[in-house]
Amino acid sequence: MTQLPSQAQMDAWWMPFTANRAFKANPRFYVGAEGMYMTMADGKKILDTNAGLWCCNAGHGRKEIAEAVHAQLLDMDYGNPFSYGHPKGFELANRLVEDIAPKGLNRIFFTNSGSESVDTALKIARQYWRLKGQASKTAFVARVKAYHGVNWGGVSLAGLTGNRKSFGQGLEADFMRHTLLPENAFSKGLPANGADIANELNDIIAMRDASNIAAVIVEPVAGAGGVVVPPQGYLEKLRAICDQHNILLIFDEVIAAYGRTGAATMAEKVGVTPDMITTAKGLTNGAVPMGAVFCKQEIYDTFVNTGDASAVPEFLHGYTYSAHPVACAAALATLDIYKSEKLFQHCDSIAGYWGDAVHSLKGLPGVKDIRNYGLLAGIDLTPGAAAKVAAKTLPLGVTVRPAGDTVVMSPPLIIQKEHIDTIINVLSEAIPSVS
Ligand SMILES: Cc1ncc(COP(=O)(O)O)c(C=O)c1O
Repeated sequence: MTQLPSQAQMDAWWMPFTANRAFKANPRFYVGAEGMYMTMADGKKILDTNAGLWCCNAGHGRKEIAEAVHAQLLDMDYGNPFSYGHPKGFELANRLVEDIAPKGLNRIFFTNSGSESVDTALKIARQYWRLKGQASKTAFVARVKAYHGVNWGGVSLAGLTGNRKSFGQGLEADFMRHTLLPENAFSKGLPANGADIANELNDIIAMRDASNIAAVIVEPVAGAGGVVVPPQGYLEKLRAICDQHNILLIFDEVIAAYGRTGAATMAEKVGVTPDMITTAKGLTNGAVPMGAVFCKQEIYDTFVNTGDASAVPEFLHGYTYSAHPVACAAALATLDIYKSEKLFQHCDSIAGYWGDAVHSLKGLPGVKDIRNYGLLAGIDLTPGAAAKVAAKTLPLGVTVRPAGDTVVMSPPLIIQKEHIDTIINVLSEAIPSVS
C-alpha cells in the first residue's frame, strides 16, 4: 500500500486552489488511476466524471503514452528550444495543423499550460497590432464567468471575480454579460437565440472604440464558470462583429479542444474560426504539462515574414520547456489514441445519451438548471449544495466537481452507457439528500 504523509508532512506542500487547513483536517488522497477510475488510499475505485481536471480525455493510465515518454527520455531528455529545433516539435506542430486545428490556424506556439497559452495569445495580439502600426489597440474584452487560467493576463480577464479580487489591477478589460443565461432554461445542447446577445459587444466597442481594442477572448463553452453553452448564432455574431471592427477573436479551448465537444475543436464543431485558439489539457491527456496556441497564418506572417529577416527574435517570448521533447512524445502518442480509437466520434455519438441522462435529473429537489454539450454537463443547484453533493457522491463511488453552485462533469471520452447510468444513479441519490 502507498505510504501516506503524516499530519506534520502535510504542511510543506502549499496546495493549489485548496483550502489547505481544511484539507489537513480531512485529507483525501488519490494513489492510482486507470481508465474511467481513480483509486483512493483505501483501495476504493472512484468513477471519475471530470477526466482528472478536464484533461484525461483518453482515460487514465494509458500505457502508449507512458511508453512514448519513457522512450523519449532515453533518446533525448531535453533540448534548448531557443534557436534550436528538434524533430518531435516539428512533427507535433504538423500533426496539430493536420488533425486538430481548424483550416487556416496553421501556426503553432507551444507552452506548458492553459494559463501560459492564454498569456501567450494576449501578448501575440498586442504585438500584432503594434506591428500593424496600430499600437493603441491594447485593451481586451472578456466575459462574466470566464476562466482563463491564473497567470497575469488570464487572471485580468477572469470573469470569476473571486479569482482576481486579491491581486489588484491587471490588464485593461471590459466584460460582456453573455454568459448570464436565464436560469431554469434546461436546454439540451445549444439554446436558441444567440445572435441578439452578441450585440452587447457592439455597445462596448461604441464606448471604448475599436482603435483601442486588441482582442475579444471567450471560452466557446465556459467550463469553470459552470458549463455555460453558447446559444446558437452567438459565436458567429461575435466573429462578424470582430471582423467588422478589426478586432482579433480568441477562443480559449483549453477545455473544449481535443474532442470534448465531439470534434477536434469547438471552432470546428460550430463552424466559426477565430484568429487564435488556446489549448492545453487534452493535448497530452493530462500526462505531461503542455499547451499550444493555434494561430492564423496571417498573424505569424506579420511577425515573421515581414520586415528585416535578420532582426532579433520576432517574438521575444517563450518558455524553457516550450515544445519539451517529452511532452511532444506524450502529445503524439495521445493524438494517436484519439485517432485510432475514434474518440472524438465516440464523444459525438454518445453525447445524446449523456444529455438525456443528465436532463433526467430535472425535477429533483434543489436542481435549478441543467446544461450539456458534447461530454460536458453543468447542474445548477441551490446555493451551497454543489460542494455537499460532491462530498456525498464520493463514498458512493463517483467523483464530481463543484464549481460555485454548479456540479460540473467532463468524463473521459472513453465513457460507455453503463458508466453514465452509474453516474446518474449516484447523483439521483446524492442531490435530494442535501436539498
Ligand atoms: C478555459 C481555460 N483556460 C485556461 C485554463 C488554465 O489552464 P492551466 O490550469 O493548465 O493553466 C483553464 C483551466 O481549467 C481553462 O479551463
